[in-house]
Amino acid sequence: MELPTGLITTLRSVRKILVLTGAGMSAESGVPTFRDDLTGLWKKFRPEELATPEAFMDHPQIVWDWYADRRRNIDKVHPHAGHLALVEMEQLFESLLLVTQNVDGLHQRAGSSEVVELHGNIMVSICSKTGKRIENSWIESNPGRPPASPHHTQGLARPAVVWFGEQLPADAMNRATLAALECDACFSIGTSTLVQPAASLPFVALNAGAVVIEINPNSTPLSSEANFSLQATAADALSTITAELVHSN
Ligand code: OAD
Repeated sequence: MELPTGLITTLRSVRKILVLTGAGMSAESGVPTFRDDLTGLWKKFRPEELATPEAFMDHPQIVWDWYADRRRNIDKVHPHAGHLALVEMEQLFESLLLVTQNVDGLHQRAGSSEVVELHGNIMVSICSKTGKRIENSWIESNPGRPPASPHHTQGLARPAVVWFGEQLPADAMNRATLAALECDACFSIGTSTLVQPAASLPFVALNAGAVVIEINPNSTPLSSEANFSLQATAADALSTITAELVHSN
């Protein structure tokens, strides 16, 4: 694909990179996004009725089974060339922090050395009362959908993801915000830039003077503000950017 004029030259002059990813980053691996018409997960379910603490309290088995189904689907997919390009980019800059809204763990499976998960991780379970982690060995060896928690007599196992109405992990959001304030360049990849507070991060970077590069086949509220807006898929754009950076090095 054709990169915008000046993008590679700009990237060769920056040291600190912040990369923000959303569901579109996983789309080419076959993980449904939330709001896309074609693959929108939300077309089939009304997650507002499922991805909430209230829904889990009212009908824990329905919520547990929905996440179990998503976990099984994620187990079958693999990182794509865009995930691998982000791993390669770690060697091309002085520092690169990867912050994701995704809960599928694909960046870690691709080999990214450090991933800040703003919305948690669907493959991990925690106690519904204490928030303490529950090992998958407990989940697999105890009956119940969901199994009872080992940490609290009234607790149940639940996915370690941020539900509607819940706070994001403070340390994750703090790290992401600090990186947005300090980075020289910020990639915003595969996110509709609609859900706060994650959606504010590229604007924080922009206002702090960073170069902002958006990669998304569709336009978003960030597209008109970004320094570079690539209407392309994550795999295509990231592979091309990384290849050009390596060749021009
Ligand atoms: P969305 O489904 O809202 O947006 C996905 C974006 O990815 C859209 O803008 C698509 O145009 C874009 N896209 C689709 N395919 C792509 C590709 N191959 N390459 C690049 N971009 C592509 O997902 P998010 O913005 O991540 O929160 O949604 C944010 C949050 O909303 C999610 O993390 C979730 C949901 O509530 C929680 O679960 C807490």
